[in-house]
Amino acid sequence: MNLKTVVVGAGGISNAWFPPLIQEGIEIAAVVDLNIETARAQIKKYELKAVASIDLEATLEQHRPDFVIDLTIPEAHREVTITALQAGYPVLGEKPMATNMDDAREMVRISTDTGKMYAVSQSRRWDKNHDILRRTIESGVIGKVTAINCDFYIGAHFGGFRDEMSSPLLLDMAIHHFDMARFFTGADPIAVYAKEYNPVGSWYKGDAAASCIFEMTDDIVFTYVGSWCSEGCHTSWNGNWRVIGEKGTLIYEYDKAPYGEVVESDTTDFHRPLKKADITDSPLEAFGMHGAICEMIDFLKTGKTPQTECKDNIKSLAMVFSAIESAKRRQRILVEL
Ligand SMILES: NC(=O)c1ccc[n+]([C@@H]2O[C@H](COP(=O)([O-])OP(=O)(O)OC[C@H]3O[C@@H](n4cnc5c(N)ncnc54)[C@H](O)[C@@H]3O)[C@@H](O)[C@H]2O)c1
Repeated sequence: MNLKTVVVGAGGISNAWFPPLIQEGIEIAAVVDLNIETARAQIKKYELKAVASIDLEATLEQHRPDFVIDLTIPEAHREVTITALQAGYPVLGEKPMATNMDDAREMVRISTDTGKMYAVSQSRRWDKNHDILRRTIESGVIGKVTAINCDFYIGAHFGGFRDEMSSPLLLDMAIHHFDMARFFTGADPIAVYAKEYNPVGSWYKGDAAASCIFEMTDDIVFTYVGSWCSEGCHTSWNGNWRVIGEKGTLIYEYDKAPYGEVVESDTTDFHRPLKKADITDSPLEAFGMHGAICEMIDFLKTGKTPQTECKDNIKSLAMVFSAIESAKRRQRILVEL
C-alpha cells in the first residue's frame, strides 16, 4: 500500500522530513505553506511531484491524503491540526503540540471526537543512545530509579520566531528533554517547582534559561537545568544525563554511548566496590523524524498506537506549562492535564 501525505510548513525542519518520506516511498501530493515560494523551493530542492499551495482545506479536499504532516511554527499547530482532523485526516505534527494547554486539550479532544490519530513527533525518542539508556534502565541494572538529572547549555543565536517567544527554552527546547525524561524512566509528572529567567546580555526577548525540579510518579525526582543563552562549554543538544538508581548510576553525556557503574557487593567500606553496568543494546533502525514516520506508517497499516499519540504527549507539554506557571507564581505547581 503506497501512502499519500500532504506536508504543511516548508521551513527549516522540513529538510529533516522530506528525505525519510522519500525513503519510505510516501507520495507527497502537496506542500502547503503561507509563503508559496517557500513551498515551491522545497518541492524543487527535493524534486517532488507535489503541488505547492497556500490553502490547506482545498488541498486536502483535492488530494485526500492518508495523513497530514504539520511542520508549521508552534503558533500554527492548533489551526493546522484541527483543520486536518476535522476534515477527516490523521496528523503527524512537529513538537510542541501547542503554545498553551487549552489549545492542546482542544486538539486532544478533537482527535478523540473525530476518531482521527494525532501523533506528535518527539524526534529524540528515535535515537540509538536514547533507546539504549531507556532499555538499560528498564533492565533493572541500576535497580529502582530514584533521580534523573539533565543539564543543557547551548548559546544558540537563531533569529526568527524563537527570539520573540516568551519562553523559548521551556516551550521550544525543554519539551524535548522533558519528554526524554518520561521516555527514559516511563514515569509521568506530578508536580514542579521552577525558576525561569532571561540571563543578563540575552539576545532573546523571553526567558531563555530555567531550573526545574519535577516530582514524578514512582518517587522519581527529575532535575532540569537548561539555558539557550549560555556561551562556551556547550553540552550536546540532547543534554547531559545522570540516572541514579538504588544499585548504581548511568551516565549519558555529549551524545556518547551511555555507561554506568553499579555496586558489586555490599560491604561496610566507605565506598562500596563497583563494577561496570551491563548496557542493553537497541534494535532501533529508523532515527529522528524517520522513526516518527515509521510509527505513523505502522499505525495506518496495523492500527498500532504511536508512542507519542497526543493523549500521551500532552503529559510532556503539561510539564512545560506547569514549569512556566510555577516560575510565574514562584510556587510548587501540580502538573495538570
Ligand atoms: N524535532 C526537532 O528537533 C525540531 C527542530 C527544529 C524545529 N522543530 C519544530 O518544527 C516546527 C517548525 O520549525 P522550523 O524551524 O521549520 O520553522 P520555520 O519558521 O523555518 O518554518 C515554518 C514554516 O511554516 C510556515 N507556516 C507558518 N504558519 C503556517 C500555516 N498556518 N500554514 C502553512 N504554513 C505555515 C511558515 O511560512 C514557514 O515556512 C516548530 O514547531 C519547531 O519547534 C523541531
